Parts: sequence; C-alpha cells; structure tokens
Amino acid sequence: MEQFVEILKDRRSIRKYKTDEIPEEKLNELLEAVQCTQSWHNNQCWELVLIQDQSVKEKIQKTVPSINPGFKAIVTAPIIIALCGKVGVSGKIGKDFGSKFGKDWFMYDLGLATQNLCNQAHATGLGTVVVGWFDHEKAGEVINLPEGYELVTLIPVGFPDHKGTSPERKSIEEFTHHNSF
Ligand SMILES: Cc1cc2nc3c(=O)[nH]c(=O)nc-3n(C[C@H](O)[C@H](O)[C@H](O)COP(=O)(O)O)c2cc1C
Repeated sequence: MEQFVEILKDRRSIRKYKTDEIPEEKLNELLEAVQCTQSWHNNQCWELVLIQDQSVKEKIQKTVPSINPGFKAIVTAPIIIALCGKVGVSGKIGKDFGSKFGKDWFMYDLGLATQNLCNQAHATGLGTVVVGWFDHEKAGEVINLPEGYELVTLIPVGFPDHKGTSPERKSIEEFTHHNSF
C-alpha cells in the first residue's frame, strides 16, 4: 500500500475540472470522511450544504471576489460543498469554554473535517480547493443559513482537469523545534 504521507504530498488545490458528474458513491465517501472526523468533545459541529443547482452556484459566485483564484471554480465544479459550523458548542467544558483560545473551536473542528474531505477526494481521484475569501454573510443568505451558524468555506469538487503544481513548502527544520522553542 502507498504510504499515507505520499497521498498527502500528492494532493493539490484544483481549480479546473472535467465536466463529469461525481458518482454518488464517491460523494458519499466524502461525507463519510467528514462524519468520522475528530472534534472537541465529539461535538461534530459541521453542517454541509451540497450545491449542485447551477443557479445557486451563480448566486454564490457573486459573493466571491473576481480576483480570487477560486472564482471560476465556483460555477464550473459539478458540486460545491458549503461548509458551515454551529457556533457556541465547540470548546466547551460543561457550560463554559475550556481553553484560553477562547470563545469557540468550531473553526478548528471544521478545518479537520475539511482536510479529511479533501484528502479523501484526492485519494479517489477527485480534486478540491478550499475557498475562504468571499462575503460569508451574503453567501450565507443564498443558502438560507440559520441563526447560530457560520458559513466558513466553499469547497468546489470535481474531477481534475490537470495535475496541480506544488507551491513551495517550508523545510521541516524551519517549523520544528526540539525540547524548547
Ligand atoms: C483556509 C483556506 C482558505 C483558502 N482560500 C482560498 C481561496 O479563497 N481561493 C483559492 O483559490 N484558494 C484558497 N485556498 C487554497 C490555498 O491557496 C492552497 O491550499 C495553498 O496555496 C497550498 O496549495 P495546495 O493546496 O495545492 O497544497 C485556501 C486554503 C485554505 C486552507
């Protein structure tokens, strides 16, 4: 079996897709990858809106700056996953927040879910890009986001039109410290 880290290294953000639809089974595997994600006290605060209707994608695209490299992906990917989080539940010990990192760990939990989803997509031949630069309030209105939730990222998913190129990474020595920072 291929080393897991080799799969991770090979994943790239993909912003251009083939027109092929995503088979139901592969889509379900993406949802399973989110389902099994770890989270603070297993709160599982994620909520996903699957956008396949072209008119909804077009409305969502209006909330993304046209200079965002992911702009076109919003209307060309066969499916956009709007990743939302319930606020005020993650990070709590009983009724209070249990960490100095304060109010809420929902962004952390959603980040983990995102990474599972993107890596699962890559492992089955799908491409994704996380889009975080858009008007979150306006996009939330498009998907009828209820009070108490945030729309955090839009994740276009489709079969890659090309193999992405790897942006440079820091060397391991640059971010690893031993025994003391
Ligand atoms: C939280 C987050 C937000 C991002 N927002 C955008 C975005 O708005 N538009 C875009 O084109 N890419 C976006 N990206 C993708 C990053 O640019 C990309 O992951 C990074 O350049 C590394 O490239 P790689 O994914 O191919 O390794 C985002 C990634 C993350 C994790």
